[in-house]
Amino acid sequence: MPSHSGYSIALVSLTSGALSIAGYILLKRFLCKNMCKKSKKAEQSKIYEEKALLDQYMLFNYADAKDFILFDLNEYSNVYNCVSFPRNVALLCRDHCPEIFFADQPHPRRALDVGCAVGRSCFELSKLFDEVIGIDYSANFINHCNKFLNEKFIEYECTLEGDINQKLTCRLDHDVDGSKIKFEVGDACNLRDDLGEFDLVLASNLICQNWIGGYVDENGQEVHGLDGLKNAMCDTFDLVHEMNLPMMIRETRRKFQFTVCLITIWQRK
Ligand SMILES: C[S@@+](CC[C@H](N)C(=O)[O-])C[C@H]1O[C@@H](n2cnc3c(N)ncnc32)[C@H](O)[C@@H]1O
Repeated sequence: MPSHSGYSIALVSLTSGALSIAGYILLKRFLCKNMCKKSKKAEQSKIYEEKALLDQYMLFNYADAKDFILFDLNEYSNVYNCVSFPRNVALLCRDHCPEIFFADQPHPRRALDVGCAVGRSCFELSKLFDEVIGIDYSANFINHCNKFLNEKFIEYECTLEGDINQKLTCRLDHDVDGSKIKFEVGDACNLRDDLGEFDLVLASNLICQNWIGGYVDENGQEVHGLDGLKNAMCDTFDLVHEMNLPMMIRETRRKFQFTVCLITIWQRK
């Protein structure tokens, strides 16, 4: 969905029903002055001309709750649970794979995080495993991971509104032993042969690009991502747990991407 500041919606709802002609002219001037940058951008990309966006806005405008919300979201109404999703995922690994942590493991416990992005899951996993490798396609992300690992402190800034940013810092947890973690640039589809063996492989928000599902097959049957995943995995792995986990990415002070991720946990046969 294209970006809105949030104010345009508030302004219209405050004034609707009581908008005089003078008020309308003022409102128009206000919108022209404040939104011209955005409009130019929108014109360039022509996103509002696309069918997908038209349909999205039809849903947004006209659908009733039963067509709009397709599973029970009340369960996820505490948005605070969505914060620190990469950490929450690492904790699930701990809770759902207890046998990895039995005391009599004969070898060092190793974890691989494919698509590790800026590393939070790796740092959390390092509290549980003897060795963690984080791999990502993005050199920028991996450089950032290594900088954080070395300096144990990092500054960053996020958009609040337009050019106004929120400056933030984060520190590496005291109980993270950096010597256990290695970050490297790599492609999940072409991993190097000498990575070795792992007790746990995490692929979080990596296979959501519809390549294994999200289409209608030649017999007219819907093939969902989970079907594709089962087909790809079932010869070698058993599906031991399936659950939803909500997450939010913040875009501005007022705009968030809210996603309920489908988590599957697989055990090698
Ligand atoms: C949506 S982010 C998810 C990050 C993190 N795992 C999480 O759940 O928050 C996807 C990450 O996967 C990386 N990625 C995408 N395709 C990849 C590939 N073929 N090999 C390795 N990393 C990839 C991207 O660079 C990005 O950092």
